[in-house]
Amino acid sequence: MTEAVPDTRWFYLCTKDDLAAPNAFVTTRVGAVPLVAQNLKGRVVAFRNVCTHRFAVIHGEASGCGPLRCPYHGWTFDADGVPVGLPFNPTDFQLDAEGRRRLALNPASLARCGRLVFVRVATEGPTLEEQLGRGLFARLAVLSEAFSRSGGPVEAGDVDEGWERFETANLRVALRPGHALRLEALPPPGADERFARTGIFLAAHTDMDRPA
Ligand code: FES
Repeated sequence: MTEAVPDTRWFYLCTKDDLAAPNAFVTTRVGAVPLVAQNLKGRVVAFRNVCTHRFAVIHGEASGCGPLRCPYHGWTFDADGVPVGLPFNPTDFQLDAEGRRRLALNPASLARCGRLVFVRVATEGPTLEEQLGRGLFARLAVLSEAFSRSGGPVEAGDVDEGWERFETANLRVALRPGHALRLEALPPPGADERFARTGIFLAAHTDMDRPA
């Protein structure tokens, strides 16, 4: 899709735990549009990961923890996307409050399904539940809450006939009931492999936790 028609598809980004810490961020790319979701003073918000001053990419890493600060001239943005820290503003940029508001970051959309966080480029469009379908949305929400402990690696080759598998959005889901949930997020269209993510989550209590 072109910039004239913002992409309305939702893509899985991470779990809410990945964005729980102050200043935690996770990035992705949809087509040519870099996106970032970040915890800013307790608010988890999503923007285009592009500075509105000279269009530098703000966060170059796939994930991390740090202020929403452009590396080029050091502008720092708040949870509304407004630049609030501008080094040398009185001499170099001379932006008053209205000028800074006009240079707010372009918002993106963020939605949750249980503990799973999805983002998209467009600010308008079908809801995440509408895209996934009500039944699948409800099931993913329940599964994400039921499998809440991070686990060790389970490779795709280890997912055998004992696992249920299904796919939605950019997610490949593998479920071993009562034991583990494997979420493999494929990079959205246009994104490279560094935006692929795989998470293993264990049931709150598995059969292996019970004494023999
Ligand atoms: S390009 Fe981002 S602050 Fe100048």
